[in-house]
Amino acid sequence: MSESFKALVLNQEGENFNREIKSIDKTFLKHGDVLVKVDYSGLNFKDALILKNGARLVKEFPHIPGIDFSGTVEESQNDKFKAGDEIILTGWRVGEIFYGGYSQYAKVNGDFLVKKPKSLTSKQTMILGTAGLTALSCAFTTKTAREELLLGEKVENVIVTGASGGVGSIAVMILNKLGCNVTAVTGKESNKEYLKSIGAKNIVNTSELMKDSRPLDKGLWDGAVDTVGGQVLANVLAQTKETGIVAACGNAADIKLNTTVMPFIIRGVKLWGINSVNTSTKRREFLWNESAKLINFDLLSQSIKEISLEGLLDIYPKMLKGETSGRYIVDLNK
Ligand SMILES: NC(=O)c1ccc[n+]([C@@H]2O[C@H](COP(=O)([O-])OP(=O)(O)OC[C@H]3O[C@@H](n4cnc5c(N)ncnc54)[C@H](OP(=O)(O)O)[C@@H]3O)[C@@H](O)[C@H]2O)c1
Repeated sequence: MSESFKALVLNQEGENFNREIKSIDKTFLKHGDVLVKVDYSGLNFKDALILKNGARLVKEFPHIPGIDFSGTVEESQNDKFKAGDEIILTGWRVGEIFYGGYSQYAKVNGDFLVKKPKSLTSKQTMILGTAGLTALSCAFTTKTAREELLLGEKVENVIVTGASGGVGSIAVMILNKLGCNVTAVTGKESNKEYLKSIGAKNIVNTSELMKDSRPLDKGLWDGAVDTVGGQVLANVLAQTKETGIVAACGNAADIKLNTTVMPFIIRGVKLWGINSVNTSTKRREFLWNESAKLINFDLLSQSIKEISLEGLLDIYPKMLKGETSGRYIVDLNK
């Protein structure tokens, strides 16, 4: 490996928080037993929060953020991996308490890594990244848990909130591919055509789900994927039909949830929390393998923005203001 390489380093001294693209060497990388040459990383909502001020998730500085990455093993002290293996990393608090993927080389615990399926390229795995893995988890929960695990009726009508975001847009695509009628909820009128092009049948403006929710509303959805939380989630719960499943993974609008027990005790609605950070390796391998069948990468790639480490610094504040759409991937060789 080259002696020095580029990484985005966060630092905090007293009140001063700064982000700098620095030249470092591998002695800087202090965690883990597998050294990876990173191809791509992603920009997720959590990354944006960490880039702003560490989001109380980062405990020690200096720190290298980036909660997901793909690349090739360069050196390994872990029995499961050898030089040349192509890998994917998402979650496990990498980029939070461990150094992450906004670096041309990353060193991590090999137990966190998944071997890249042959059916995907390294770039495609980060086109999906944490957002894609979360969307896959939500979509399988919404559709398959009800139909197969709980032996319920077919899941036909589903709603996805925050639909033009990273998780939302991929969930729209997967649920459409799984045969559902997808209603996409977005605050951006300008994204209507894009959402239809990736598989949404109907579009609802977020403002319609910001109203005060009734304990039970007209039942419209067999399933839901919520990335937004707050009032939107409360309305989705009230509009979910008998035995429907609502997969809740996000809080882009609010961490609070003001609801009643009525959807749960009258309609048997299930609120199913999704946390992709600690998902088991077995489940990750299943989801990554399924992704190649469910994702139309030609279509998805059209909405992907490739940026450099430098570009990240311009984009993350926009993501925090809800001004971005789709997924941003970071090319570490740019
Ligand atoms: N649980 C997990 O394992 C997990 C994993 C990944 C992400 N997440 C969470 O999932 C959420 C989405 O992540 P992401 O990476 O997809 O983020 P993202 O790309 O920024 O997408 C979030 C979307 O939510 C909508 N939105 C943003 N601010 C809003 C507001 N104030 N009110 C209503 N809608 C708003 C926007 O959709 P429109 O433009 O369509 O309105 C935005 O595109 C985040 O809360 C993230 O932390 C959780």
